[in-house]
Amino acid sequence: MRQIGIGIAGLGTVGAGVYKHVAQNRALLCERLGVELVVRRAIVRDVHKPRVAGPPAAELTTRWQDLIDDPDVQIVVELMGGIDESLALIRAAINAGKIVVTGNKALLAEHGQEIFALAAHKKVPVFFEASTAGGIPIIKTIREALVANHIVSIHGIINGTSNYILTRMTDAGLDFAEALAEAQAHGYAEADPTFDINGWDAAHKAIILASLAYGFWVGTDKIFVEGIDKLTATDIRFADELGYRVKLLAIIKADASLPDGGAGNSGGIEVRVHPTLIPKTHVLASVSGVFNAVAVRGDVVGETLFYGRGAGQDPTASAVISDLAEAAIALGGQHRTYGFTPHGLYGTCKPLEDVRSRYYLRLAVDDRPGVLAQVAGIVGQHDIGISSVVQPETHDAADRAQLVFMLAEASERQMQAALADILQLACVTPPPALLRVESFS
Ligand code: NAP
Ligand code: HSE
Repeated sequence: MRQIGIGIAGLGTVGAGVYKHVAQNRALLCERLGVELVVRRAIVRDVHKPRVAGPPAAELTTRWQDLIDDPDVQIVVELMGGIDESLALIRAAINAGKIVVTGNKALLAEHGQEIFALAAHKKVPVFFEASTAGGIPIIKTIREALVANHIVSIHGIINGTSNYILTRMTDAGLDFAEALAEAQAHGYAEADPTFDINGWDAAHKAIILASLAYGFWVGTDKIFVEGIDKLTATDIRFADELGYRVKLLAIIKADASLPDGGAGNSGGIEVRVHPTLIPKTHVLASVSGVFNAVAVRGDVVGETLFYGRGAGQDPTASAVISDLAEAAIALGGQHRTYGFTPHGLYGTCKPLEDVRSRYYLRLAVDDRPGVLAQVAGIVGQHDIGISSVVQPETHDAADRAQLVFMLAEASERQMQAALADILQLACVTPPPALLRVESFS
């Protein structure tokens, strides 16, 4: 059987999983692909490190140039993480005509436009299924299975680590540090978990999904990002009492206010990632632990939902190997795709201030007559409706009362202006807790 040579850059959580499963499922892959995938070389930082899975020591190297120079390596799999070295490797691989497979969402979010332009220029495919939602085949779904659709919206829980942390804090009462340590031990977190926690890992994935869905590369400066790092147990509890689960949600929407309901070709696209109150009755509220879920609405297909493990060795290896299969097919004949095809149907991001949402607002206030009226008055002056107000009788540690408002839909501009005025009140003690509520309408 014809062999296809693979060079893997990185034998950590994901790289070792790819090596292990390509070997374990060799016969199945041979049957399905009609070629044999053979890992010829692997790049690591430390060749002496003990490894559970990987090629023989003689095939390990610390120089990524060795993958480029090896004529028997036809596919380069970048699983090192980081930006500079990975970008240099991918550029060199494309220039050398080697197909690239990567799971590096941070790199794609920052440099995707350049990488795919080079890939198209050199006619070398770049595949990236593992970059978003772990084992869920969401990239191929949007690019291929939903090709008939204008994408109206995408709602995704797409960071396994933060969802795992929120679940363990809510259901098992763990504190943040304990829950993060568990996620790291399971191999879910990034080498540096900062981006998992501050929302940017999910934001990188949202950029990839939005760019694929709408055909222009979305800039990192065009999206709103807030992580779970400022979320407090108090707000998770209040949300629970009000009938909501708090999830780190990526929201990508075409402008529904357009005459064509956002399904046409002229609207602004909103892309945001933030802790979000989701009604407990909505299916996304029950996505727990490391699981991810992505709800995609298309103008032809309607609602679709994709669910699976969003991080960790095995699900991510499954996604990488699906790209190896696609690469093997591409090597066998016509290149069907270069990974990302720009088109000009949408072209702009909606200004963040124009994004509309409902809001949960919790304020620590002095417990005296007139305070509620002052806050409600400001909210009203900014033309924001109040859906409900709760003031539990218990006070916080500093003896302040808690006012919890559920606010009607308003623009980010209105809400931020109202909040700025509220914080001028002497009776309000910062910081406020402002969370967005998704109604999925
Ligand atoms: P990891 O466990 O930290 O492994 C990184 C691997 O790359 C290690 O084998 C390391 O070598 C090697 N490496 C790093 N920098 C290198 C350099 N400059 N030169 C040579 N080798 C280098 O990372 P991971 O969790 O497998 O993640 C890898 C990539 O997949 C990242 O882009 C990540 O965002 C993405 N990803 C991860 C997951 C997940 O669940 N973990 C899921 C989807 C996507 P040593 O072994 O010698 O240290
Ligand atoms: N750190 C990422 C997460 C890995 O937790 O979702 C999968 O991309």
